[in-house]
Order: sequence, then C-alpha cells, then structure tokens
Amino acid sequence: MNLRDFFIGMSQNQFLNNSAKKYGLKLGAQSVVAGTDVAEMIQSVKELNNNGISATIDNLGEFVTEKSEALKAKEQILEVIEAIHTNQVDAHISLKPTQLGLDIDYEFCKQNLSEIVSKASEYDIFINFDMEDYDHLKPSFDLIDEFAKDYDNIGTVIQAYFYDSVKFIEKYKDFRLRIVKGAYKEPETVAYQDKKDIDENYLKLIEYHLLSGKFTSIATHDHRVINHVKEFVAENNIPLDKFEFQMLYGFRKDLQLDLAKEGYKFCTYVPFGDDWYGYFMRRLAERPQNMNLVVKQVFNK
Ligand code: FDA
Repeated sequence: MNLRDFFIGMSQNQFLNNSAKKYGLKLGAQSVVAGTDVAEMIQSVKELNNNGISATIDNLGEFVTEKSEALKAKEQILEVIEAIHTNQVDAHISLKPTQLGLDIDYEFCKQNLSEIVSKASEYDIFINFDMEDYDHLKPSFDLIDEFAKDYDNIGTVIQAYFYDSVKFIEKYKDFRLRIVKGAYKEPETVAYQDKKDIDENYLKLIEYHLLSGKFTSIATHDHRVINHVKEFVAENNIPLDKFEFQMLYGFRKDLQLDLAKEGYKFCTYVPFGDDWYGYFMRRLAERPQNMNLVVKQVFNK
C-alpha cells in the first residue's frame, strides 16, 4: 500500500472521523481549517478579503448517512449564507451533495439543496456543487440539471482524471466551472492513473473552458499549471474577470497573495467546522509533504 492509499483509507475510517469531531482541531488541521464555528470562519474570510482575495466557504462534512445529520448540515449552510449576507463579505458557498443526504435519499437531498439554492439566490450568492467520487457523479449531475432549470446561481466541478471529463465539460460549457485534477481514489476503468495523463487532460479542459467565454476557476497548487494559464490567457486575450485561480486555505499562502497582487482574481477555498478529519486526510494523501504541517503543529505547541 502506498502513502496515498493509506491516507485515503484513513479518511474513510468512521471511528477516527467521529473521534476527531469530539477532540477538536488537532494534528495540524488548524493550519488548513478556518476554525470550527461561523464567527471564526467569517474572521478568516475578512482577512482574505482585506488582501484582495475572495472565498468559497465549505461547511465541512460528507458521506452523511443519518437524516438528522444532513438536516443539521443544511441549517449550518443556511447560517453561513446569512452570515455572508450580513457581513457583506466577498464569498460564496461550496457544498457536497453527500453532506445533504445524497446517500440517504435523492429526493430528501434535493429538498435540502433546494432550500439552500433558493436562499442563496435571494441574496445573489453563488453555490458551487463540489464533485465527489465516481459513484456520486451521475446523481450529482442530475441534481445540477434539475436546479439549472430554475436557478442561475449554481455551478460545479470538472475532475480531469476522469476519461469522460471532456464530455462533461462540453455538456456544462455554459456553466461557471471549477476545474481540478481530482482528489479521490478511482479505478482505472474510469480514471487516468498516471499523473502525466491527468496533467495533460487538465490543461486541455482549462483551455477549452477559458475559450468558451464562461467563468473558469482554475483550482490547483501546481505553479506549472498556473504559469501555463498566465501565458494562455495573455496569448488569447482572455479578460482577467473571466477566470480566477483557487487554492485551499493554508496552502501556498505566499503564492496566493502574489497572484492577487499581480492583479489576478483569486479565491481561497475556506473549510470550517468540526468535521475536518476526512478533508485533512485527503490533503495528506495528495501530498505527503503536507505532513510538515502536522510536524510543525506538534512541535509548536
Ligand atoms: P498536485 O498535487 O498535482 O501537485 C503538482 C505540483 O504542484 C507538485 O508536484 C508541487 O510541485 C506543487 N505543489 C502542490 N501542492 C503544493 C504545496 N502545498 N506546496 C508547494 N508546492 C505544491 N477535488 C475533487 O475531486 N473535487 C472537488 O470538488 C475539488 N475541489 C477543489 C477546490 C480547490 C480550491 C482546490 C485547490 C482543489 C480541489 N480539489 C477537488 C482537489 C484537486 O482535485 C486536487 O486533488 C488537489 O488540488 C491536488 O492537485 P494540485 O493540482 O493542487 O497539484
């Protein structure tokens, strides 16, 4: 078993997930999670805004199996929407359908999402449907298709590791899209396994959507991709207000600030809440060097 598989396995461990909720932000997670409540999170967003950076806020949680938990998550997200509006911060929402009950019942999840999307629409707040693993791809796209009939404040994510991602981006070319490499462990029947193939497809998807003229969020910490995009937008006269770079809270902070200072739109993905464990383990799976964050935290107590 390699380190990536080890951390992905850890991210799905229910016992450790529950223990993490009980014992608060530990093991370095506080460097990459913006607090456990709305007040702390809003404070972090204000600091980002002061540096010319917008935020996409993720109320942490996923793969929920209890209706009560999904309803609680819905209430928390509604509270975040209210807080964005009241504080007039430059921010929108990222959410995961499995947190709102997709694994429990499609219609139940849709009802929860409907309250969220409609409230956000009243305040003109954008909602991004994060994309999870392959098994949830189809129902998540189905939900998006249904909401798109009535709302224009929604968008989603295209994951470059899927062979079908080109088809997805063609289908959703009129949406505001975040394009990523892909964070879950997927079998080779559906996804590229080789980093080189994923990177190549990633650039192809980014270029396609930038040229389509719809807003593109390029979500990566990979400076090579960022430099490529800078050249591509300059060569193709793509206006600066048609795309943004996104990175996760706490990662490559200097680069985040530099890009914002250079005049690029920049948006930080701000996760908060007590359900941080799975998120944190996936970050370790992507980049075992992130263990540095853990080590620093342990020694800086
Ligand atoms: P990758 O991990 O491929 O690294 C490439 C190179 O970049 C490294 O070799 C290194 O040189 C450099 N690098 C990377 N991280 C670095 C660091 N911390 N410090 C210094 N150098 C570093 N996934 C998903 O499946 N669904 C989703 O909805 C989302 N949403 C999302 C939002 C945002 C804002 C981000 C940034 C990412 C996601 N992802 C995601 C995760 C995404 O799919 C992917 O797993 C990670 O971003 C890791 O891939 P990267 O492109 O960042 O670089």
